[in-house]
Amino acid sequence: MRQPLTLALTKGRILQETLPLLAKAGIEPLEDIHSSRKLIFATSRDDIQLVVIRGTDVPTYVRHGAADLGVVGKDILLEHGAEGLYEPLDLGIARCRLMTAGPVGWAPSGARVRVATKFVNIARRHFAAQGVHADVIKLYGAMELAPMMNLADLIVDIVDTGNTLRANGMEPIDEIACISSRLIVNKASMRGHYRVIQDITSRLAQAAAGG
Ligand code: PRP
Repeated sequence: MRQPLTLALTKGRILQETLPLLAKAGIEPLEDIHSSRKLIFATSRDDIQLVVIRGTDVPTYVRHGAADLGVVGKDILLEHGAEGLYEPLDLGIARCRLMTAGPVGWAPSGARVRVATKFVNIARRHFAAQGVHADVIKLYGAMELAPMMNLADLIVDIVDTGNTLRANGMEPIDEIACISSRLIVNKASMRGHYRVIQDITSRLAQAAAGG
């Protein structure tokens, strides 16, 4: 039998919203992903297997062809680039906003602003486009802490309900982008497996549209 195509999924909240869509599209893992420590899962379709990895790794696997397809947040694609990838479908899941935020009532006091974020490329582009000189500080989590500890003036982060900002005395300032999860495809895989990838894409499109 031919090697199955590999679909790389982003673990965490995106995975929880991806699995019901996959099920509607007729792609179901043969065992419970959440209770397993495995990383590779066979599915109800013998021509598709799943791998479950960190979101930042999904475009890397797909770009190199180690995975044929992937599901990843648009924030990751904006931050790390989408060269070498097709992005045929907005799955409409894990919706949130990428925003600048600061302490309630914050106002700029000088020419420079210190910005803490894990989205350093997005932050640099955003402030450069506004003509603001930003010193961008890379963090890997808990961005909201940075202004409270005087590490930064502002943050760039994902905002969903806004509860995390409110709980830490902060408020959103500017919206940078609306985020949702996207289907991405390796370009060579698209050429070599066009029919099956089109089939997967159209089934997922129908599932995402509520069909
Ligand atoms: C994100 C983000 C905020 C929070 C926002 O973190 O970094 O901390 O969600 O959500 P809210 O507006 O509903 O409060 P996430 O929980 O995804 O974890 P992460 O820090 O690992 O990205």
